[in-house]
Amino acid sequence: MSRRRGLTDSVRGFIFDVDGVIADTAVLHTAAWRRLAAEEGLPFDENLADQLRGVSRSESLRILLGDVKVSPERFEELAARKNSYYGECLSSLTEADVLPGVRSLMDALSSRGVRIAAVSVSRNARTVLIHTRMIDAFDIVIDGNDLPRFNPTLNRFQHAARLLRVEPGACVVVEDSATGVAAARAAGMRSVGIGDADRLCVATVAVDSLRDIDAARLLTWLSPNARHRPSAAFCSSR
Ligand code: G6P
Ligand code: MG
Repeated sequence: MSRRRGLTDSVRGFIFDVDGVIADTAVLHTAAWRRLAAEEGLPFDENLADQLRGVSRSESLRILLGDVKVSPERFEELAARKNSYYGECLSSLTEADVLPGVRSLMDALSSRGVRIAAVSVSRNARTVLIHTRMIDAFDIVIDGNDLPRFNPTLNRFQHAARLLRVEPGACVVVEDSATGVAAARAAGMRSVGIGDADRLCVATVAVDSLRDIDAARLLTWLSPNARHRPSAAFCSSR
């Protein structure tokens, strides 16, 4: 079997998404969008909720509005209202909301000398990391407030790799969204998809959760020539 171009056996950087990976805040984003949609008489279902994972606030609102046209002022008001609903939920987050397996995996990776980043398109991601007491566990943190000052020709994971000083082929992205997994792939990185395997079709490895995931076994699955890896069924290209 041929080795995939650019990927190395040695993994030297791990890049964790925040919402739905470090903490179960993806459900809080969904609840806030659902509340806004109900108030505005807009349709909302689980399929739409999945489409909004990993998508910026304004792009999410465009998707939610569909064909409904609104003025720029009203658009801003709707986005701010959703954010205020989400903010109400964030205030009660604590370290008990860190998802199972996250800390032990990060500790095991750190002890192997792997550099670790938190990267999110959310402008609230730092707040999530502060409330869950995870902010100091990363070598670098990039959130939605940082993205506008980066070179737009590189995606957020490429910026993280540069800041970590690790080449993309030695980085792994942990993501719960299809858009995030696609961005990792576009950056030339392997990925661990967390959650519904159908949503994470192109992830290198797909698992339900990080609970009980052994770091050594995970690194074996991520090896370019791994013979076996848990992945999404019915997906041919990875
Ligand atoms: C993450 C979440 C999305 C959210 C986006 C922007 O990627 O998965 O659901 O829309 O961040 O979040 P923000 O907190 O800036 O509205
Ligand atoms: Mg996410």
